[in-house]
Amino acid sequence: NQEKTALFTIFGGTGDLAKRKLYPSLYRLYKKGFLKEHFAVIGTARREWTNDYYREIVMETIKDLADSTEEATKFASHFYYQAHNVTDTEHYSELKELSTKLDEKYQLENNRIYYLAMSPNFFGTITEHLKAEELITNDGFNRLIIEKPFGHDYESAAILNDQIRASFHENQIYRIDHYLGKEMIQNISAVRFANAIFESMWNNRYIDNIQITLSESIGVEERGGYYETSGALRDMVQNHILQVVSLLAMEPPIELKDEEIREEKIKALRSVRIFKPEEVRHYFVRGQYGASTVHDEKSLGYREEQNVDPASQTETFVAGKVMIDNFRWAGVPFYIRTGKKLREKGTQINIQFKGMPLNLFSEDHTTPQEPNVLTIYIQPTEGFSLQLNSKKIGQGLETELLNLKHKNSAETSANSPEAYEKLILDCLNGDSTNFTHWDEVAQSWKFVDVIRQAWNKETPEFPNYPSGSMGPVCSDQLLEKDGFKWFWNPTGE
Ligand code: BG6
Repeated sequence: NQEKTALFTIFGGTGDLAKRKLYPSLYRLYKKGFLKEHFAVIGTARREWTNDYYREIVMETIKDLADSTEEATKFASHFYYQAHNVTDTEHYSELKELSTKLDEKYQLENNRIYYLAMSPNFFGTITEHLKAEELITNDGFNRLIIEKPFGHDYESAAILNDQIRASFHENQIYRIDHYLGKEMIQNISAVRFANAIFESMWNNRYIDNIQITLSESIGVEERGGYYETSGALRDMVQNHILQVVSLLAMEPPIELKDEEIREEKIKALRSVRIFKPEEVRHYFVRGQYGASTVHDEKSLGYREEQNVDPASQTETFVAGKVMIDNFRWAGVPFYIRTGKKLREKGTQINIQFKGMPLNLFSEDHTTPQEPNVLTIYIQPTEGFSLQLNSKKIGQGLETELLNLKHKNSAETSANSPEAYEKLILDCLNGDSTNFTHWDEVAQSWKFVDVIRQAWNKETPEFPNYPSGSMGPVCSDQLLEKDGFKWFWNPTGE
């Protein structure tokens, strides 16, 4: 593998994301030879840590991945810590000094990646200082990776974007949506554009509805404070779900290159119908988990979680019907749902095809047959299945449902690169295919804002689903009124 050269500066270097995802991902890239001698990492945060302590922490985060302490120590020796107050100009001069020093020491060709793994409140200040204190180099590449949330509505996102763009060009900005790094999300393009049988039917003449479920079994854990300001709509729909919708709905790009794909995704998102406030109730429903007892174990309700208002109206579940008003998709509902404390963890996409004009296998010819359904299993199971009607073995002509399946083996799934690993490598390669462009973010907020505003005007009856269930009744009713029901089979068994 070709070695990459860069200095990573991670703001939020002591934080959870850095420890859980970034350091292990950098280590995997190191093990695979994408990072060798010519890289260095500066971790910055408010805390006063020494380089030695920082390296110990880094080594702790990779202990299950490293083959030997020697190897881990060598990797960690590329890590440097600098205590930093993001509003203090002086600190940026120190950061610059250290960066120049490391640049020379490791011959980093002035290539810089700034990773903002911290509260977005500081994104503007940091980028402004990076420019003012000349931390953006002239000869190497300068790339900025930012984590969500990117604003909390269109207006705040636009302000944030303007602040960042004052220092970095759009093509230097890598907005992370970690779903785009997932193996099976990336596989959507292959299913669609490498299989004529599907692409020729990928439209409103043959597809009845599409369902996207992102189900989580965990609750809000320690993130109650953040979640109270976000809720499921902003946390999952504005980003991950609408990204998946755009990949399923977009037109084939001219080439599988970042700019070409982006153009098609943006067009798809622009075709998503933005509801009028009074329409929202017909298209979107929400829920919040209550306490329940499963197998004698009591599970807390959302309102009892840490840092959550006991009368909170924050939704932990959303289900909705997204309509795409273009030639390909007019009339086809994209049903989406996501929630916390649901029965099980599972992300899957179901594409339900239209039925036969008549059912020759029923006496009256009108009883509908089971539909053909293509399922894309995203996680934890990775794979596909296709539901078909087949003749039952034996006398007569009765049909039964068959399920053709392919599942990636546990080993393949375990060895496939983690989303963060892939995305960091993409950024090192200057490939922004799997990152979100501002136009996508903007369009997604416009869609979500109307729903949020409509919801803010009404008091929901929360909690309305017990933890361990598949969400509130209104979620099932949303599909029932259209004559559909949710598919759910997270493991494909
Ligand atoms: C994050 C959300 O973006 O995605 C979390 O903020 C959520 O609330 C997580 O738990 C889900 O990601 P994954 O990869 O576990 O499906």
